[in-house]
Amino acid sequence: MTENTFTPAPGRFAPTRFYDRVVALTRERLWRSLAALYVAPRPDDVIVDVGCGTGSLALLLARVEPRARLVGVDPDPEVLAVAGHKASGATVRWQPGMGDALPALLGPGSADTVVSSLVLHQCPIEVKQRLLASMWAVLRPGGKLVIADYGHQRTPLMRLAFLIVQLADGREDTRPNADGRLPALISEAGFRNVREAEVVATVSGSISVYVARKD
Ligand SMILES: C[S@@+](CC[C@H](N)C(=O)[O-])C[C@H]1O[C@@H](n2cnc3c(N)ncnc32)[C@H](O)[C@@H]1O
Repeated sequence: MTENTFTPAPGRFAPTRFYDRVVALTRERLWRSLAALYVAPRPDDVIVDVGCGTGSLALLLARVEPRARLVGVDPDPEVLAVAGHKASGATVRWQPGMGDALPALLGPGSADTVVSSLVLHQCPIEVKQRLLASMWAVLRPGGKLVIADYGHQRTPLMRLAFLIVQLADGREDTRPNADGRLPALISEAGFRNVREAEVVATVSGSISVYVARKD
């Protein structure tokens, strides 16, 4: 994978039009709501959703606080087109681009909060590191990071369930998440107060909500 290539939203095998229906099977309303709780959007907050896909999290945040300024960044024009159709009146800016170019796309230190859901597990380790470094750079001092993604698969049942994601997205890229390495990677990118705030068991493995701060 080069800097300008990426795994598409539904993984390697399914077409984009099935994506929302597949994600709905993951107790999506629960973990997205928990992520929104930790974002706690406020009026005028600039909130960047990295790898926004079909826009579900950005649109939920826009519903919670319509006066927040939401930007959804994704390199895939197909998912951004779906997001645009779903938006119906919500004011989200859909920005084509790679997640490791956030400071160039939006300006360094320009965001109050960065969110990202179900992106890092699909990325090779060096892309995870570049994305986290880019998220750090686009946040203002004191800004917040909220990541919802497949995290540490702690039980044999969750490891087994996670095999379906590993089949779709590849074992090598997904293993660091399953082994519980995300908090360390988030810290290494410069974030402080990194914590796994929530863990939601799903049919495809457990999804964790991680929260961190930029000093
Ligand atoms: C599994 S989808 C998740 C979409 C959405 N965040 C959600 O929660 O439904 C992963 C998304 O990350 C995007 N993506 C993959 N690599 C990326 C990168 N390097 N920078 C930004 N987005 C990326 C893909 O285009 C895809 O839309």
